[in-house]
Amino acid sequence: MKVALVIPAAGFGERLGKGIPKALVDVGGVPLLRRTLNRLAAAADFLETVVLAPPNEVERFRVVLEGTAASLGRIQVAAGGATRQASVARGVEAVGDAADLIAVHDAARPLVSAETVRAVLEAAAEHGAATAASRPSDSVREDRAGGVTAALDRSRLWLVETPQAFRRELLASAHRAAAARNAEYTDDASLVEASGAAIRIVETTGRNLKVTLPVDLRLAAELM
Ligand code: CTP
Ligand code: MG
Repeated sequence: MKVALVIPAAGFGERLGKGIPKALVDVGGVPLLRRTLNRLAAAADFLETVVLAPPNEVERFRVVLEGTAASLGRIQVAAGGATRQASVARGVEAVGDAADLIAVHDAARPLVSAETVRAVLEAAAEHGAATAASRPSDSVREDRAGGVTAALDRSRLWLVETPQAFRRELLASAHRAAAARNAEYTDDASLVEASGAAIRIVETTGRNLKVTLPVDLRLAAELM
């Protein structure tokens, strides 16, 4: 199974508010992006890795990525787009034909477990499309008409995370189709599902925290 890794890291981290791209923010002495890549490198062998950076930061990202683990394969840094979806689309285009699968993982999730990474890759190899996800720990309610809300059954709900993995051509064609329709999705599983494929869920092991707010950064540093 030949796997390429695509890392959307082209966001600015406005909610984190550090004044530098979120992927470069220091987590206990190491940039967040490197923390995340170290986790992935320890989990599996990748044919190649494409990191999407803010367009004006490509060179700085290249320097930050010098000397990363050999298990990430050949590393490219490419300019991301205006949205996460556009960034991933550019990453998918940059992946070579040799890969059977593409795994997509947000730079903002440095705590992903090796078990979760491997299980998502295996599920995608078998079924074509898979995502990591967790059950909500809070009760969940939904808006109804007239300012009223109603309880949902949380035992049937999933909070979608990354990694997500797909057969290469399935993900590439779904991205081309979404761009042609001008359709925006918040994650690649939704985008691939809209092209007609079924998504397998892999329940996350451990706490797959997404660094979004300043408090998440402190939590991530503590949990590392
Ligand atoms: N991302 C990207 N290209 C964009 C926007 C986001 O590659 N145009 C990436 C981010 O770098 C991040 C992941 O998508 O790794 C998830 O996005 P999010 O956590 O929202 O990060 P930011 O967009 O950077 O944060 P914010 O929304 O607070 O600005
Ligand atoms: Mg964002």
